[in-house]
Amino acid sequence: MALRYNGYVGVFDSGVGGISVLRQLAATLPAENFVYFGDSANAPYGEKTRDQVARMSRDIVDRLLDEGAKAIVIACNTATSVAAASLRADYAHVPIIGVEPALKPATEQPGVKRILVMATPITLRLDKYQLLAEKWGSGHEVIDAPCPGLAARIEKGDLESPDIYELLEDLVGSYAGAVDAVVLGCTHYPFIARQIREVVGDVPLFDGAYGTALQLQRKLAERGLTTKSSGRGTVEFLSSKPGKDEIELYRSFFESS
Ligand code: DGL
Repeated sequence: MALRYNGYVGVFDSGVGGISVLRQLAATLPAENFVYFGDSANAPYGEKTRDQVARMSRDIVDRLLDEGAKAIVIACNTATSVAAASLRADYAHVPIIGVEPALKPATEQPGVKRILVMATPITLRLDKYQLLAEKWGSGHEVIDAPCPGLAARIEKGDLESPDIYELLEDLVGSYAGAVDAVVLGCTHYPFIARQIREVVGDVPLFDGAYGTALQLQRKLAERGLTTKSSGRGTVEFLSSKPGKDEIELYRSFFESS
């Protein structure tokens, strides 16, 4: 296979969500080249089985590495929980960086006691999150809010439509005014940060994008993989869903403020 993405950082998610992480990666490491793969044909991951998510994640990583990627960012909490450990074991020659719900920074915020964690059902069920909650949650009240259907709804674009608000009311409306912070434990959710605040209240929101960008920066430096170029890098988009419209949608998410 041609090394179309030789020296690029490969980034993937089930669909548009990981673009919230990609934006932070490109802002923190502007000289790097990125290739983003959205598995929109198979979204959402959060309501699939572990085996399905593991297989789909591995197929994407294989493809990105075959095409020359020098590092992988799993810009998906669900795929990180399911597959990061086994991918790191099997591809030890490549840095593989994952995302995790930003519970630690939320617990460090002064005055925060009750923390709502919004994520996919799989992410909240698996050991990785349970251990994270045990490690950072003691001394706080951590409330898990599985949000089935929410990532799939964001995948469609049109984030202002009333049914997004209806779904948010159903999923987290009962916590309105009752929590001090919200952790966005799915990379799709930063795209509806304002809508979440409108439903839950004007509280700080935490996501894992910045921590992931710093981790990528460290891992590239450790392995001598940081780009030597000082110019602005490129960002390219691929999707498992055919057609130009999907790539246009990705670009519009990347460029949205
Ligand atoms: N954006 C992903 C996450 O961070 C997956 C959402 C989904 O496909 O269900 O968990």
